[in-house]
Amino acid sequence: MQNQTTKYMVNKARDREMKKDVSITAGDVKIRKILSEDFKALVEFGTALMDSRLSIDIWRAYLQSYINPYFPPVSQLAEVTGKIIGAALGEIKGWELGSPLVGWVNAIAVLPDFRSKGIAKKLLLEFVDECRRAGVRSVHMIAPKEDDVRQALLRSVGFRRGSFVDFEIKS
Ligand SMILES: CC(C)(COP(=O)(O)OP(=O)(O)OC[C@H]1O[C@@H](n2cnc3c(N)ncnc32)[C@H](O)[C@@H]1OP(=O)(O)O)[C@@H](O)C(=O)NCCC(=O)NCCS
Repeated sequence: MQNQTTKYMVNKARDREMKKDVSITAGDVKIRKILSEDFKALVEFGTALMDSRLSIDIWRAYLQSYINPYFPPVSQLAEVTGKIIGAALGEIKGWELGSPLVGWVNAIAVLPDFRSKGIAKKLLLEFVDECRRAGVRSVHMIAPKEDDVRQALLRSVGFRRGSFVDFEIKS
């Protein structure tokens, strides 16, 4: 069985191999809050990343909930010359969980050609700043145990094991 470090290096090498050499500098990437007028471009962004678990109708409905949130919007996008290349979708919630208000990142993705350039990291850092500006003191994301990429990404930004406990029952 591969250990965590080997798996990490294999993933990084695979990502490097898959992407074309798109040269962008840090200054070319703009990170900003998602606005309602971004809806159409975000539908296209998601379509480019879609796998068999997701249909365009589900993606549209999912996006709507981030475009019209019931708390201040915190979701972020990354763009290069006006094209959306990454997004971190999430919300502020608490009453459903009987907890203080906290930020939740529910999804994060970067287009393959733009990966391994620090864009997901920037998106998460801006998401955390947005939550801080909204008066929220912690931000959370759930990571499956076996998802070493998601865990490495979260740790690289400064996320550590959180205060919520995950319960499950087999169905
Ligand atoms: C996961 C994902 C969002 C990372 O985006 P990215 O812009 O390439 O990530 P970054 O360049 O900002 O990387 C930040 C950190 O994440 C981790 N990471 C990113 N890609 C990785 C990979 N392929 N393998 C292992 N670790 C990885 C590393 O810790 C990296 O820090 P480092 O470069 O200093 O080692 C992107 O690969 C993606 O969209 N994947 C498909 C969607 C997905 O699976 N989303 C959910 C997982 S969070």
